[in-house]
Amino acid sequence: MKIVTAEFVKSALGPQDCPRDRRPEFAFAGRSNVGKSSLLNRLLRRKGLAKTSKTPGKTRTLNFFSVNGRFYFVDLPGYGYARVPKRLKDTWGSMITTYLTAREPLQMVAHLIDSRHPPTPNDHELLALLEEARVPTLLVATKFDKLKSSQRKPAIDAIRADLELDDDALVIPFSSVTGQGVKELWDVVEGCLQG
Ligand code: GTP
Ligand code: MG
Repeated sequence: MKIVTAEFVKSALGPQDCPRDRRPEFAFAGRSNVGKSSLLNRLLRRKGLAKTSKTPGKTRTLNFFSVNGRFYFVDLPGYGYARVPKRLKDTWGSMITTYLTAREPLQMVAHLIDSRHPPTPNDHELLALLEEARVPTLLVATKFDKLKSSQRKPAIDAIRADLELDDDALVIPFSSVTGQGVKELWDVVEGCLQG
């Protein structure tokens, strides 16, 4: 994908604030600190476009970024950084679950999982929610640069087993530091835009 323009458009707190021009959207979801905003910056080759932080809970609204004036990337707040585990809808709010299950222009959700840790109960809930709403979902294993090479295949296998994925389901190893996975992710986005 040739990126001509990539710009922040708006923050939304619910469906009423989302863009109304019906351009296709791609959303990035996952637990807090998993690397959603970093991935978006890496894909768009714009450091600092989406705000990132070492501290979980940085992104607090649905943030829309317009790409080439043609489609949107949507950076979502993360879930699960409170100490006491809660159900996804309680911690994350109905704002995001409603967006993910009822947003018409949404083409695909990239569901990010930290490659160093097993998926959380909230990850399982999100996957089930997206499956039930029949939203196309792509799994992305983040922070892959932090794994030793001997840990890499086992990490992907562990995610696949834990989430009981079909053999043909894609899990893309990704690193915002090295750029691993950028091309594979764009291939999927481009496929959606053409399809
Ligand atoms: P919230 O907005 O709080 O939900 O977090 P987020 O998922 O947007 O995470 P963010 O992109 O802000 O990254 C969290 C931290 O992880 C930052 O300190 C990033 O620099 C770091 N990080 C993100 N991606 C990678 C990666 O691929 N490799 C490494 N080594 N660090 C990463
Ligand atoms: Mg963020």
